[in-house]
This record gives sequence, structure tokens and C-alpha cells, in this order.
Amino acid sequence: MPEVRRIGVLTGGGDSPGINAALRAIVRRAYAVGVEVIGFRDGWQGPIEGDDRHVCPLSLEDVSGILYTGGTILGTSRTNPFEKKERDGETVWEPTEKVEAIKANLKKHKIDALIAIGGDDTLGVAHRLGEHGVRTVGIPQTIDNDIGGTDYAIGFHSALATVTDALDKLHTTAHAHHRVLIVEVMGRDSGWIAVYGGLAGGADVIIVPEGPPEGSFSVDEVEQVIRRRLEQNKRFSIVVVAEGARPRELGGKQVASGEVDAFGHVQLGGVSYWLAEELRKRKLPLTPRVTVLAYLQRGGIATPFDRLLATRFGVKAVEFALEGVYDVLTGLRGTAVEAVPLAQALAECPKPVDPELLRVVKVIGGS
Ligand code: F6P
Repeated sequence: MPEVRRIGVLTGGGDSPGINAALRAIVRRAYAVGVEVIGFRDGWQGPIEGDDRHVCPLSLEDVSGILYTGGTILGTSRTNPFEKKERDGETVWEPTEKVEAIKANLKKHKIDALIAIGGDDTLGVAHRLGEHGVRTVGIPQTIDNDIGGTDYAIGFHSALATVTDALDKLHTTAHAHHRVLIVEVMGRDSGWIAVYGGLAGGADVIIVPEGPPEGSFSVDEVEQVIRRRLEQNKRFSIVVVAEGARPRELGGKQVASGEVDAFGHVQLGGVSYWLAEELRKRKLPLTPRVTVLAYLQRGGIATPFDRLLATRFGVKAVEFALEGVYDVLTGLRGTAVEAVPLAQALAECPKPVDPELLRVVKVIGGS
């Protein structure tokens, strides 16, 4: 097995609190055994460009004081060196000239192994680069928590803290003004943030994207809960709706803008406004109002859980590279951090919310 002297690292996709804690752990673990760490800026754009603006050695000094901070000191982007094509009804990712650029720049900077920190898109690129001879280890990071192969991704817990705090605050004004407050949260096609946040923040209705093709919820169901609460003299309701929720009234389609990113994802958002409008038509005695938490969920300091998870993932990612264990991600399984093959983890994306949690939502919601 060739010796690892220099490790590259990059952070891609939507950011989240905890990434910097992982970078700090990577640098500390690597330097403890005399291995150098080189940072690539702005996701996959870094190794594609490979110039001084996109490549920076990371010293112990560089990662000092960043344990708790949000964002990423390396910057991020949704750059994709592969191109999406449809062939015989199947999606294939064809390498563009950027893949050759990455290989050449990794060689130029003498990178023996590359650690990619990100969501399913970033990790998907890492896996595909493996097929082109690049030795990669992935660290799962996304507030959406929709990556297979791990119980939790870095950032989810911090986003959950933000959502819970927002719901605590919204409760008092909902109560005071006798309103239906609809809170839209992120999560793309998974309802992890909605379910965990909604349960922790005591939402009366929790709406997720998971469900049959004809839709994951209907306005009738939401109205029923609000009216039932009114009968119990509860003159307010809090509705948490995931951005990817699919109204039956829209034939199970998500509410999205026309914007599509380099990985083919549409920009989700707006289902809360749609729902508010529909509820207004139902002439409820409570006025609906909307709060979209949006990018607030990706910001702020990392929770202790995320700092710890990121630190453990960072340490393990370096150790996997040193042991020659590639094409894997660091996965939290119960309390252990394991090497999970990227192919396996990616095949499970987007990881749907645990049905047991949906059962809890059902039995506890709207009372
Ligand atoms: O990071 C994941 C995520 O926050 C999704 O929940 C959301 O749909 C998306 O990113 C928004 O991405 P962008 O930063 O491209 O607007």
C-alpha cells in the first residue's frame, strides 16, 4: 500500500454547523503522525482549478479556534465535474474534462488521499472519482440528514436546535394572536428536520415529503386538526411543513422554483405560502401566517453533539486513509463510527424518516 504523506480535503454542497470541527480534527489527527493537510477551496471547484487561490495548506494554527464555528473555512459550492445523461431510461454521470483536471491537480499537489465533506452530491462525486483512480474518504455533512449509511450527518443536530428554538418563540405569538403559524423547514426530499424539529418544538401538525406518489398530505387533514383543536378551546396551531412536502391537491408535486442546480435538483420552497392560501379559503376563525426558516437552519454555532460527531468523523476519516480504506464514508452506527462503502450509502439516499418516528408523530400530533 503506498504511504500517505499528504491528505487533501474539501467541503461541498450546502454548508452546516460542524464542518469546521471536522476540518480541525482532520488536521490535528494528520499532523500527529506527520501527515500534511492541503485544503481545496469551494468544493470540487478547488481541485478543478488547482491554483493558489483554490489551494491552501492547512496548519494547526489555521484550524485553531474554529471548533464551534458555523460555515466552512474552505468555502463551498455545488460544482459537479460529471454531467448527468439519460441512457436507456437510466441516469448516468459522464465525466467531463474537469475530472482530468482534478486528477492532474491532485498529482501536481502530491495528494495521496482526498477527504470530501458534504452531502449525497459531494459524496457521489467522491465515489465516481474512485472509479477514475482517485483515493477518497467521505464525511457526511448536511442539515437534511438524508445520507444513507449513517444515523446522523454533521449539521443536522444544529439545524434541529435552530428549528426548536424558533418553534418555542413562535408558540407565544401564535397563542397571543390566535393564529395558525405555518413554519417551513428545509430537508429536500426527507422529513428529518420537520419530524425532529416538530416533535421537539411541540408542533400540532408535522408535514413531511415521505408518502405515496399521489401526495404526502392534504389541506383537509390540516384543517381537521386545527378545527379539532378549536373544539378543545385551543385557539392557535403550529404547523411545521417540510419544503419538499407534496400536497395531494397538487397531484403530489412539490412546490419549487424553476431553478435547477448542477446535480439536477430543483430549488424547493413556497409550500408554506401555498398552504396558508388554501387555509384562508377554508374561512377558519384563525388567521394563517407564514415563517420560512430557510438558511437560518444552516447557520450559527455547532451544537455539542455536532462538534463531537464532526471530531469523531474527522479523526476516523484520516485513520481510514492511513489504513488504505477508501471509497467509504464515516458512518455513525449506534455509538460506533464505521467505514461504510460509499456505493452502499449512496444507494440509500435520500434516507427516509424512520417510520417509527412517523408513528410517534401520528399518535401525538394535533391533540
Ligand atoms: O443543504 C441542504 C439544503 O439546505 C436543502 O435542505 C435545501 O433544499 C438546499 O440545501 C438549498 O440549497 P441552496 O443553498 O442551493 O439554496
